[in-house]
Amino acid sequence: MQGKVVVITGSNSGIGEATAAALATMGATIVMACRNLQKAEVAATAVRAASRSDDVHVVCLDLADLSSVQNCASEVLSRWDHLDVLVNNAGGIWSDRQVTAQGFEQTLGVNHIGPFFLTALLLDRLKGADAGRIVNLSSVGHHVAFTGMNWNDLQGEKRYSAFGAYSQSKLANLLFTCGLAKRLADTRVTANAAHPGSVRSGFGMDGDMTGIVGLGNRLIRPFEISATAGAATSVYLASSPEVQGQSGGYYVHSRPGHPSKQGRSDAAADRLWEVTENMITESGFTLR
Ligand SMILES: NC(=O)c1ccc[n+]([C@@H]2O[C@H](COP(=O)([O-])OP(=O)(O)OC[C@H]3O[C@@H](n4cnc5c(N)ncnc54)[C@H](OP(=O)(O)O)[C@@H]3O)[C@@H](O)[C@H]2O)c1
Repeated sequence: MQGKVVVITGSNSGIGEATAAALATMGATIVMACRNLQKAEVAATAVRAASRSDDVHVVCLDLADLSSVQNCASEVLSRWDHLDVLVNNAGGIWSDRQVTAQGFEQTLGVNHIGPFFLTALLLDRLKGADAGRIVNLSSVGHHVAFTGMNWNDLQGEKRYSAFGAYSQSKLANLLFTCGLAKRLADTRVTANAAHPGSVRSGFGMDGDMTGIVGLGNRLIRPFEISATAGAATSVYLASSPEVQGQSGGYYVHSRPGHPSKQGRSDAAADRLWEVTENMITESGFTLR
């Protein structure tokens, strides 16, 4: 990974931080795109120490605000003249319905709309790379959205549940990956999705999940894998020659996994692409 520039969102903890450490150890320039800069600087210091590399940098990114996404993309484009890999890692699950700065339901906003916008803004730079790669963190939880995207209530205004919103957002990550692979077919950029496993990270902690679901999330922690093990599939998709030129896949344990039927729907991917573009442009933002 020597000479390659890698942007990893949400890398101030968990799988993202472990991904940063692994790719920094391989010699990549690491850009940690994080919303909590204090936490990010602490994580960057740990990544530098673990990798014995000083080529580890922090930029500000709040995916719950498209202005912040735009500023982050501008900073990346101005500070680095090339970009090889974008790992859309950041994500979360929230017990209570909340909205982003532009009024989108937070799970869809942070897990899908923000990453969609960031990717669009960085895409031309990725196209300039010898072999650009986009890695989207999805989840096996996308299977829970077995009836597909809830087109009549994408924002959970009529009915909201943490798992309902989360599984839909992770299905959206798969459909986004399909949409990207289709649109990038005649370029050198590939897009793949990953399920990291059940990982002992900050996921759902810090008050993000409350009640019985929050308790369940805590009880399973001893049985979950480490963040380093959870980062393995992201690292594989970001760096391995084995997946050079492979696009549109869904990987689990660094091997092709089984996406749901809904996650393989071209029609749903096209519809989501259009709907997401409209949500962003109607909020007053330009996709390039
Ligand atoms: N853990 C699992 O078992 C599991 C399973 C399947 C999929 N995943 C996926 O793996 C990815 C990484 O999760 P993780 O397990 O490593 O959880 P984590 O430790 O909670 O990390 C999530 C990261 O996302 C960031 N984030 C949250 N909201 C953000 C926002 N508005 N703007 C920018 N960054 C934001 C967090 O930043 P803050 O520190 O500022 O909150 C944190 O750095 C997620 O996409 C998740 O859906 C995890």
